[in-house]
Amino acid sequence: MKFFIDSADINAIKEFSKSGMVDGVTTNPSIIAKSGRDFKEVIKEICSLTDGPVSAEVTSTNANGMIEEGLVLSKLARNVAIKVPLTWDGLEACKALSDKNIMVNVTLCFSSQQAVLAAKAGASFISPFIGRLDDIGEDGMDLIRDIKIIYDNYPNFKTEILAASIRNIDHVKKAALYGADIATLPPQVVSELAIHPLTDKGLKAFLDDWENSGQKIL
Ligand code: E4P
Repeated sequence: MKFFIDSADINAIKEFSKSGMVDGVTTNPSIIAKSGRDFKEVIKEICSLTDGPVSAEVTSTNANGMIEEGLVLSKLARNVAIKVPLTWDGLEACKALSDKNIMVNVTLCFSSQQAVLAAKAGASFISPFIGRLDDIGEDGMDLIRDIKIIYDNYPNFKTEILAASIRNIDHVKKAALYGADIATLPPQVVSELAIHPLTDKGLKAFLDDWENSGQKIL
């Protein structure tokens, strides 16, 4: 399973890279706005920190505008993936950009039918939004499960399932259980993944016993 970092926080990306947890990065217009940085500059910097795909989202709402923006963004670095919304214009842009061998991440997916359209349009990634479905009283994880079953029925679909809008570590566990190819995680969620009270308690007991033994490794 691959982890993408759902953030433009350079320090967080650098920190998690040290333990091999960064297989790529996703951003969206809200994340870029929050960073307070120039869009193209921050995307270029993130692309220099990982070999994996870095999603940069278009903001045009018509297909031609999205294609034009996508072509500009794709020139920032060889690992830029163009993010387009799951609208008919977005699907048209997805097909045009994918035909040029540019990676496309189709975002704002809330149904398995939409995920089928993205695969047919040649998307490299489909981003089902888990947390936002939970927010309206649905179980977002059902969508991951359904897309996985459908995509597995059609081996000619090459689109990877990128579980997005992940809010907690239980989402990460279920995304893995249901076979999502990738989960994109906010830095806070990544931090929490390694934490378990029994790990802390066990480590303390080991270190206390070691100190009492009087031995040293170095
Ligand atoms: C990533 O591609 C998405 O833009 C992001 O995961 C959305 O998360 P949110 O629903 O918590 O804003």
